[in-house]
Formats: sequence, C-alpha cells, structure tokens
Amino acid sequence: MNITFADTLPDDISLLTQVVDHGAIPGDLERTVSEGAAAARFRGGAGQVFESFVERDGKVVRLALAGAGKADAADRLGNLEKAGSALGAKYFASGVDTLVLDAGGSPIDAAGLGALLLGLRLRSWRYDEHRTTMKKDQKRSLVKVVVVGAPEGSDAALADAAAVADGVEFTRMLVTEPANKVYPVSFVEKAQAAFEGTGVELTILDDNDMEKLGMGALLGVGRGSERESRLLAMRWNGGDAGERPTVFVGKGVTFDTGGISMKPAAGMEDMKWDMGGSGAVTGAMLAMAKRKAKANVIGVVGLVENMPDGRAQLPGDVVTSMSGQTIEVINTDAEGRLVLCDALHWAQKEYDPVAIVDFATLTGAMIIALGSEHGGVFSNDDELAGKLLAAGKSVGDKLWRFPLTPEYDKLIDSPIADIKNVGPRGAGSITAAQFLQRFITDDRPWAHCDIAGMVWADKPGRTWGKGATGYGVRLIDRYVRDTLEN
Ligand code: BES
Ligand code: MN
Ligand code: ZN
Repeated sequence: MNITFADTLPDDISLLTQVVDHGAIPGDLERTVSEGAAAARFRGGAGQVFESFVERDGKVVRLALAGAGKADAADRLGNLEKAGSALGAKYFASGVDTLVLDAGGSPIDAAGLGALLLGLRLRSWRYDEHRTTMKKDQKRSLVKVVVVGAPEGSDAALADAAAVADGVEFTRMLVTEPANKVYPVSFVEKAQAAFEGTGVELTILDDNDMEKLGMGALLGVGRGSERESRLLAMRWNGGDAGERPTVFVGKGVTFDTGGISMKPAAGMEDMKWDMGGSGAVTGAMLAMAKRKAKANVIGVVGLVENMPDGRAQLPGDVVTSMSGQTIEVINTDAEGRLVLCDALHWAQKEYDPVAIVDFATLTGAMIIALGSEHGGVFSNDDELAGKLLAAGKSVGDKLWRFPLTPEYDKLIDSPIADIKNVGPRGAGSITAAQFLQRFITDDRPWAHCDIAGMVWADKPGRTWGKGATGYGVRLIDRYVRDTLEN
C-alpha cells in the first residue's frame, strides 16, 4: 500500500475519512452526517465506522467517520489501530482505490497516526497470488492512502509502522503459502531475498553441516522427506558492539503429516502452517532490521518436513541430539520439540545469548486449553515471562503463563534413553515445554511460547482477516523495544 502525505485535500476524492472520538462528533459536519450517524447508533466507539455521502464544492464525496473510542482511554493507540483496521476491512476490496485521511480534522498525534495506518495496512492484507479467475469486483482495490495535514513527526511514525507491517506481511505470506511452495530450501531462499540489503547476516546449515554437528534429533524428523532440511540463523547487530545478543528460535516444520505416527486426513492441510513459529521469528527479524532496532538480536529457525517413508524414523527409535542427550521417539508426530531441541542447543552454543525465547505451533493441547485468544508461555524466569506477557498485551499478541515443575518433568523420563518425546495424555503442552527445558544450559533465562492456536484464524480478528495472523512478530518487536532498546 502506498501511503503519502499532502498539505491540502486533493481535488478528486473518492473516499474521505476522518477519525472521531467517542461522543465527540464534530459540530461542523453536514446534517446528513451528524444526524445520520446518530440514527445509525454511531457514537465513535473504537472500531465503529459510519459512512455517508456529502456534497462539497459541488461534488458528491463519500465520507467515512472512524471511531477511536474515548479520548482518554488507557489503550489509545490500540483503539486507533482498531479504527484503522475497521477502515481497512470495509474498504480494501470495496472498489475504492484511494483513501484520503483528513488528519488535520482528526484528534490524533503522530504516534496515533502510525497506529491507525498500521491497523489499516495490516487489515487490508490478503493473499490472492494463486487466484487467476477472481472477478474484478472481488479483487482488492485499495492501493493508496493520502494523509492530509499530518501532525509533526509523522514521517518517523509512518516509517516505523511500515517496518512492522513489512515484517507481519512477510510472516503471513510464509504461513499462507502451502508446503509445495514453502519448504526448507525455499523458505531460506525467500528469506535471502527479503533480507537483501538490510544488513542482516545470514548463516545457513544444510543436512551435511547438521550431520557434522550431531543434530540427530532435528535430522531424524527430516529423514522421511524427499526435501532437505535447513537451519537458518539471522543476525542483526544494531546494539552495542560486544553486547550479548537475545536469541529467538522458531519451529519450522513446513509440513507436518505426523510421520509414521500419521495424522488423520481431516484438517491435515492445516499443517502447512506448522512453520508459524519460524515465520514469526523471521518476520520479526525483518521488521527490526527495517526499523534499525538498537539491539543485538538473532533469529534461528529449524526447517524440516515431517513425512512417512521407508527411510522415516520409527516410533521407539532412539536418536542422539546435538547436546548429547538421547531421545526415545515414542511418537513421530511430536516432532516440533525434536527440531527445537537441536536448534536451541546450537543457538546457545553459538551465541551465548542473555535470553532465549522460542516460538512454536507445538501442541494441539494448547488449543484445547486456550483456544485462539492467547498463546501459552512457559519460562524458567519470572522477569522474562513478565516482560513477554506485557509486550504481548500491549500489541494484542496475547500470552498466558503455564507452570513448569519437576513433577511434570519426570513424566518424560524414558526407560531406554535420557528422555522420551511424549508423556502421558494429560498436560501435553507442559510436558512438551519440560522437554525443551532439558536443553537449556547454565540456567539461562528461557521462555517457550506455544502458539498453535494463534497462527491461523478461522474468523477475522483485530488486525487480520481469516487465515494467517502474523502472530508473534509484533510481540517480539515490542519485547525488543521495551527491554533492549531503552
Ligand atoms: N504441529 C502439531 C501441533 C498442532 C496441532 C499445531 C494442531 C496446530 C494445530 C504437533 O507437531 C503435534 O502433532 N503435536 C502432537 C503431540 C502429541 C503427539 C504428543 C499433538 O498435539 O497431538
Ligand atoms: Mn506433529
Ligand atoms: Zn508439528
């Protein structure tokens, strides 16, 4: 979407928009607007939109009022984001190609404008790449936004919002593309193209490299696939030289059939988005690089395809992880933790991070527990957990904390190896987290975010339609801003 600033209203306007606070509809509007809004029960609540047509200078203009909620609301920016999102939802495929925002006539500062434009752009995203017969009427039409009378500082606010939106959109694309388009090698290629010129340093490990490093757990998952596995590290050095980095790790199972412990057919297509954790980490790295975050941050994603085959690993197999710990693979469908344990171990050894946080669509049990309202967070460190919860709350990528205890940990002791990859039926998300914790060294602050219910939406949400949400990108970005950049 092309967003530009102007000093005066353009001559030819197809859609003029104005933000109004709750209960504060401007008195100088045409009666058709002020009385029409009242009749339609529009009061300026956050996310409400009222549309009318007015005659100005002899021309009929479509005018939309977007409600921003109460002027003194605690979450003012969140409300403005909702206002932008509501405009996006209503107009992105409405036939209107240019939206003119009368910022001068709206109660917003630069930060508020940034939030509104972020909501507008994120909600206007839809992936139509693979449609060739879509009717013209259904196609996306909105391509341009002209902001008139933008407040001081809007350039920076817009650039910041654009960096974040670029990251979220990149993640959504990765998550949306099916497994014949996004697989480990092509994921890396898409990342290489996206990071071109950003200053992010990429390190790519192929099967051979990982074999040499002893990543038997990650490689075991990829064994049944014709596709090669990859580990991709993305390093952004925007902070002080020599300052230890924070590392984000993502589960990147580009398709999860379950392997030999195969999943049932119904709904299996959803497992194209079993790389949502790696998508979030990659999109967040892109957002932070684009806005030149003043922090040392590294993203590490383990990319594999989980398939059944003559070469695939079998239930009961014992594999040796890079850490040296041996794992009894009870269920080949509990593959995410096998990928993550080697990625986590490698990342700690390679970078000695001050903190390490992983994102993964790890367990169906997480969806049973929290649905699609919160991701689950598990941590060995209260401060880290608190900061992640706060970051998530502030951007709307919500988290809820779950426990880790020695009693849960015991449930994954194996009779034949150091650890087994599944516990009993109960507490499936917790035992998965306990598994990961066994690969954290030196009491390092670590958190695991199980985002199985958050990556894909079956109904439109705050800043997304049905489909890929981009969950996690803004959470990571906000965490880095608030804890590393102050
Ligand atoms: N990728 C799945 C978890 C998942 C399921 C994510 C549904 C999103 C939607 C994961 O690899 C998996 O299969 N987990 C198993 C673990 C079980 C075998 C212990 C599960 O949750 O059933
Ligand atoms: Mn699985
Ligand atoms: Zn999986």
